[in-house]
Amino acid sequence: MSTTPQSQTGVKAESVLEARAPAFSTQQAEAIARQAFDIQASAHRLDSERDQNFHLRAKDGSEWVLKIANPAENPALLDMQAQALLHIAQVDPSLGIPRVKATPNGALFHEIDGADGRRFTVRVLSFLPGQLLDDATRHPALLRDVGAMAARLARALRGFFHPAARHELLWDLTQAPALRSRTHLIEEQGRRCVIEEVLDHFGAEVLPKLKKQRAQVIHNDVGCLNTLVEGNRVTGVIDFGDLIHAPLVCDLAIPIAELIREHPDPVAAAAEITAGYHAVTALEDDELRLIFDLVSTRCAMEVAVANWRVCDHPENSNYIMAGIQEAGIQLDRMREWGAERMYTALRRACATPVSIEVSDFTRTPADEDSLQSLIERRRQRLGPELELFYDNPVHVVRGEGVWLIDDTGRSLLDAYNNVPSVGHCHPTVVQALARQAATLNINTRYLFRSVIEYADRLTATMPGDLSVCMFVCSGSEANDLAWRLAKAHTGNSGGIVMEDAYHGTTDAVYELSPADYGIDKGRTLAKYIATVPAPDGYRGQFRRDDPLYAERYAACIDDAVTSLNTRGFAPAAFYLDLVLSSNGIIIPPPGYLSTAFEKVRAAGGLCVADEVQSGFGRTGDHMWGFQVHDVIPDIVTLGKPIGNGLSMAAVVTTPEIVASLMQETDFFSTTGGNPVACAVGIAVLDVLEQEGLQERAARVGAKLRSLIEKLAKHHSLIGDVRGAGLFIGVELVRDRSTLEPAAKETTAVANRMRELGVLVGIEGPCSNVLKIRPPLVFDENHALQFTDALDQALREL
Ligand SMILES: Cc1ncc(COP(=O)(O)O)c(C=O)c1O
Repeated sequence: MSTTPQSQTGVKAESVLEARAPAFSTQQAEAIARQAFDIQASAHRLDSERDQNFHLRAKDGSEWVLKIANPAENPALLDMQAQALLHIAQVDPSLGIPRVKATPNGALFHEIDGADGRRFTVRVLSFLPGQLLDDATRHPALLRDVGAMAARLARALRGFFHPAARHELLWDLTQAPALRSRTHLIEEQGRRCVIEEVLDHFGAEVLPKLKKQRAQVIHNDVGCLNTLVEGNRVTGVIDFGDLIHAPLVCDLAIPIAELIREHPDPVAAAAEITAGYHAVTALEDDELRLIFDLVSTRCAMEVAVANWRVCDHPENSNYIMAGIQEAGIQLDRMREWGAERMYTALRRACATPVSIEVSDFTRTPADEDSLQSLIERRRQRLGPELELFYDNPVHVVRGEGVWLIDDTGRSLLDAYNNVPSVGHCHPTVVQALARQAATLNINTRYLFRSVIEYADRLTATMPGDLSVCMFVCSGSEANDLAWRLAKAHTGNSGGIVMEDAYHGTTDAVYELSPADYGIDKGRTLAKYIATVPAPDGYRGQFRRDDPLYAERYAACIDDAVTSLNTRGFAPAAFYLDLVLSSNGIIIPPPGYLSTAFEKVRAAGGLCVADEVQSGFGRTGDHMWGFQVHDVIPDIVTLGKPIGNGLSMAAVVTTPEIVASLMQETDFFSTTGGNPVACAVGIAVLDVLEQEGLQERAARVGAKLRSLIEKLAKHHSLIGDVRGAGLFIGVELVRDRSTLEPAAKETTAVANRMRELGVLVGIEGPCSNVLKIRPPLVFDENHALQFTDALDQALREL
């Protein structure tokens, strides 16, 4: 990238391009090689815009490059390049760089006179074989190796300095603002505005931060045309013509800027390069934060310089503008994702101890068939009934924060998955998992610290005497264990649950789950189960406009107790999902829980708060869903987000309740509470705290609800918007007075949103509630993207 526009433009640059390139014949080159460097070789011209280069194939089989510098080239810069190559060869001899061939008397340069009377400096470097990175497939392993090579090269240059190192160079990122005086030469107005914005932002916001970063002499152009590869390995780097003293991180920004261009998953590609770099030289957080802007600025510089050069050399416009369109497109794409997304991905890549598997997104016509065949194989192996979301199922290959990446490389905004609650593949969690898995994984019958520390951390978040943890592996198991605890402690065997409740899949818990009970398939509830209506103030028997509706719903507990008694049972437990998800996402109204709990306890039962969906900060105001109701349950069950996707769950209860079960039986779970689970559980709690995710759930959830409420003004289909924090239900109805459920429309909206790149679920007894419960790293911009897609999907109905 050493090409330079003419100096009369106002931006200081070498006049090398304007000075005629040397014009020696191959015979002359062979003679110089022989006479000055003692190399008997045949010469072939190589392309060069400003210098003249010859490939030399010597009789002894060695290969060299004879470089005749442009006479306008600053001799001090040539010296710097030669000294840098010698330095690198000394400190990292295995690094693939050209070696300087001195003359027999030890000189690095040879001077010759040209026929035109000008004097030329000649040097010889070893020729590096290999394929140009530009022609190679951008396999993740190769991208990683490019990063590693850039870092190794910079490491080798760490102790190097030269008086010419702080020279003025057009491609010095720190000089980018100077190009602002040339942006008027960009004809296309939209493009011009973007470039100006990027350069202005760089000057005002980025440069002051960049100046605080560590700096040294860097190669400054480890790009597609200077990097040599073999398979997925980088074998060498050539062209030290842009060597400069500059912030180290600029050296990483350049390969990223070039290699993510036209890459189907640019964020992943940038992450790979960065991870490769980081494995050699640890990047500082401030440096990671700057990469997005440096990459954008580099693209902006390319566009600005190319437009400027075209004005001076319209005859060369095809050559100059090659690839510039792509630089502009990349800038647009980057502005869509935003700096935060790139930073998060890079940070994750640096923190992840393992290389992530990045798919090859190149699609062939056979891919559509293979998607169908995948679906067919799934049906055969997992059974035809296993639900697959969406008419056009999503084939996911990767997760990242709030994003799911599909097999085409498309990023889908995940507004549905609450399990990866601190974000898909959060680096802190991944690292904790990998570290512990590599250290020890054993069961709780051995003494190890983390299970105690984890239980301390969990119980510290609970009120009252909820001080004992029992670790299991799924929400269903936790609820099953809660059932055994309740029966053992109360001596009763009846259960009270919501109509349409869901608490899990074990045989016992299945009985407590009318939502999934198969009542539509003719099954009836066990006779020891009584149901109560969900306190649904929108569609239920008692509505929000009745000031006593909470009490009226709570009073239904009395009916349930009576019903159990008449069948010969008393309640052992009342189970409550604190967001009543399967009931259509209903937050119990104020006053409901305290009255309901009182009634259950008066009838001899325990109160089980099923926090499998609602826990870990999701509802925003509190860590646990029950806390807003100012009650203390007897048993709390935890699952789903507890391990950000790792199969783990817990029951938290009082010592007395545990003691009751232990009088009857033992409890042991082989993998529940093992060291890996505890490491992950602690990491999840750390991230929740450090990133303030509970507060974020409250803030972003409120914003999202208000955005959807605004939409409701234009879309009569939106009947109700409800929820807490980032657990939101949007009930769709055909008629706001009859509340006729709009189930078909809900399915259509979810499917359309999926096509628009936003994933949302469907919930409720009438399947007419959009279920929104994204990873808690969802932010205000994601909320806007969500509502845009919802708006469009509703408009298109
Ligand atoms: C409220 C509630 N409890 C329990 C469970 C069961 O958890 P798991 O699927 O981990 O067994 C679920 C699962 O959806 C749930 O929503």
